[in-house]
Amino acid sequence: MDKAKLQELDNQYIAHVYSREDVAVATGKGAVCHSADGKRYIDFSSGIGVNSLGFCDPEWTRAVSRQAGVLQHTSNLYYTEPCALLAEKLVARTGLKKVFFGNSGAEANEGAIKAARKYSFDKYGAGRHEIITLLNSFHGRTMAALSATGQEDFHEFFHPFSEGFKYVAANETDALLNAAGDKTCALMIEMIQGEGGVVPLTRDFVRAAAKMCAERDILLIVDEVQTGAGRTGKFFAYEHFGVNPDLVTAAKGLGGGLPIGAVLFGEKCENAFGAGDHGSTFGGNPVVCAGGLVVMDRIDEAFLRGVREKSEYMTGRLKLMKNVVRISGMGLMLGIEIEGKTAHEALRYCVENGLLILSAKDKIRLLPPLVISREEIDEGLEILEQAIAG
Ligand SMILES: Cc1ncc(COP(=O)(O)O)c(C=O)c1O
Repeated sequence: MDKAKLQELDNQYIAHVYSREDVAVATGKGAVCHSADGKRYIDFSSGIGVNSLGFCDPEWTRAVSRQAGVLQHTSNLYYTEPCALLAEKLVARTGLKKVFFGNSGAEANEGAIKAARKYSFDKYGAGRHEIITLLNSFHGRTMAALSATGQEDFHEFFHPFSEGFKYVAANETDALLNAAGDKTCALMIEMIQGEGGVVPLTRDFVRAAAKMCAERDILLIVDEVQTGAGRTGKFFAYEHFGVNPDLVTAAKGLGGGLPIGAVLFGEKCENAFGAGDHGSTFGGNPVVCAGGLVVMDRIDEAFLRGVREKSEYMTGRLKLMKNVVRISGMGLMLGIEIEGKTAHEALRYCVENGLLILSAKDKIRLLPPLVISREEIDEGLEILEQAIAG
């Protein structure tokens, strides 16, 4: 189908919640994709942090295709092997104790919010249900996840929102200590605020927050939806900070391209949910988990070292570019503050010239596939440099 026809169909039949770029992606391999009209693009976006192994990684494709031909779905009424194996790997990797699988980041966060409240209810009774989140955070678009999101822009139109959330400024330890009270059951944080503009938390703040949580039996929930699955150069970003969360949520890159969400439960709350307290028809789907297994196997220590090396290389080159004011982030999750033009103007130039990038707030955001090669990085950075400098 040609692009004009596709755009006409899409505009007519798809609800207008996305402002799409003028690209119709048709095929992809690794960090390169092609549009329906034959144009080639270097991908610095990985489907917003999803295609951790790039487009159509051969091993990943084989695993999901094979599983689709063996058993595509049953239900959570029965046992299936890929789901149990993926949970085992996540537990072995993190030291957390149990896993619940859903289908998206927002859904994972809903699960963690429910689990924290259930843990507190079981132990302290009703009323200790408040969850502290950070200003400028993003936790998803379902109602509780939106309520948890600490940005006023997201709190319009859809009233009534879910009660029981309180927001404090990121990296303000005293504000956090003052905000936590008798009704607080959890603190939910992103280690790097992704949608908020690639804003990392400070080590001091994270460690003080973890200490407070441990002392007051407040569960520490880390939202690793964007930062997880190797994105920052560790399997989970919290590992950079030397803390042990009680609940971790993951999604995006964990599935390598199929919809997944996961809640990981630490020792304290591993039994917070009993049968019937939570669930999902599709959660733990065998095809999705077969892909997740390939992702997890691939992201070993050597792979993570590679992510950190690519990050250093990219950051080093970006720093030398004209009009780059500041670079934030870790691993292959980078925010670039520029002057002279807006991030969106730079994004437009990149798209027109064969590079897919993202923006977050007023920054350029780069989330390339973790498998991107040095040559592909160079090719993309050349376009980006022209976009920023021009
Ligand atoms: C930190 C964080 N949490 C949650 C979400 C929501 O994930 P999903 O879009 O899969 O529901 C996102 C999405 O960008 C995210 O970055």
